[in-house]
Amino acid sequence: MSLELNRVLILDNIDQICENILKQAGIEVTIRPKLTTEDLIKELNVHDGVIVRSATKITTEVLENVRGLKVVGRAGTGVDNINVDAATRKGILVMNTPGGNTLSAAEHTCSLICSLSRSIPQACMTLKGGAWDRKKFMGNELYGKVLAIVGLGRIGKEVTDRMKSFGMRVIGYDPIVSPETAASWGVEYLTLEKLWPLADYITVHTPLIPQTKYLINEKVFRSCKPTVKIVNVARGGIVEEKALLEALNNGYCGGAALDVFEEEPPKDLTLVQHPKVNKYTSLEMGIICAYSKVICTPHLGANTYEAQKRVAVEIAEQLVAMSQGKQLIGV
Ligand code: NAD
Ligand code: MLT
Repeated sequence: MSLELNRVLILDNIDQICENILKQAGIEVTIRPKLTTEDLIKELNVHDGVIVRSATKITTEVLENVRGLKVVGRAGTGVDNINVDAATRKGILVMNTPGGNTLSAAEHTCSLICSLSRSIPQACMTLKGGAWDRKKFMGNELYGKVLAIVGLGRIGKEVTDRMKSFGMRVIGYDPIVSPETAASWGVEYLTLEKLWPLADYITVHTPLIPQTKYLINEKVFRSCKPTVKIVNVARGGIVEEKALLEALNNGYCGGAALDVFEEEPPKDLTLVQHPKVNKYTSLEMGIICAYSKVICTPHLGANTYEAQKRVAVEIAEQLVAMSQGKQLIGV
């Protein structure tokens, strides 16, 4: 399929290389910062392609008001910020770059698992606050501990490889991966019911779809070891935040590392600042946060120069390939 592309709009701070590749292919490029919905619609009506990361939302309202747009490119994996059904109804193609940020997201997950096991962010904060507290920060080795990976796709597989090198026992579940394939990666394939009670750490690497919404919920916490630690570098809402908070407060969860949230940025900071400290001064708050069981990052899984360059190249090359009638990859 070949679609003529003359003008492409790039939003959301995509790496410069994206513009270069499009221009080399003779495509006119406009770069804009974040736009209001009204301005976005105006711009989309004078372009036939748009490339976004995650800040810009290509909603039904936006799509219903544009004419002539042929393709929406997402420089990243998830297409949650694009209403794919509404785009498809209008005959607009949606493409992503599955895989371009896999290694960065996997490395971020592994860093969070390591940080949880040794309370690295908390220990750093107490030392910066002037305390030399070695007793508080007795950690655990990862060697011999059980890591449960839910979602053995691109990122889940890379996390497996890396955490196995720490000597972790990896167990996992994915409806489209066979037990034999999992075994060939060194993963013991188990049903979710069997997996929960064994896990010292659980990391989720699924998309957020109806089947995975609140996959980690109150019932799951009650099936787990009370010391279980949860990691979410996939999508907010796979771990139910209310249930996580209750589990932390009631001794059913030993810690959590969150890169993604049900609402981004989160307006309710109860979980991020857990335990709640708003009656303290900012210095005391720093020290108290240092004793938190929750560590968090603001959706940084794919935030590396390497991943951002890779997704920028991939999405640009896909748009060029499309305009030249070559085979398409992505959504
Ligand atoms: P992928 O498609 O390669 O793998 C996802 C896997 O989840 C698939 O194998 C699928 O079969 C499995 N799955 C679906 N439903 C399941 C269920 N009910 N139970 C268990 N497994 C199930 O995707 P990926 O590239 O590995 O990405 C995983 C997640 O990470 C996505 O949500 C993606 O948006 C997110 N992500 C986040 C960041 C970040 O910056 N934090 C970066 C990249 C990707
Ligand atoms: C993705 O889905 O690719 C990630 O959430 C990362 C990002 O949005 O940059």
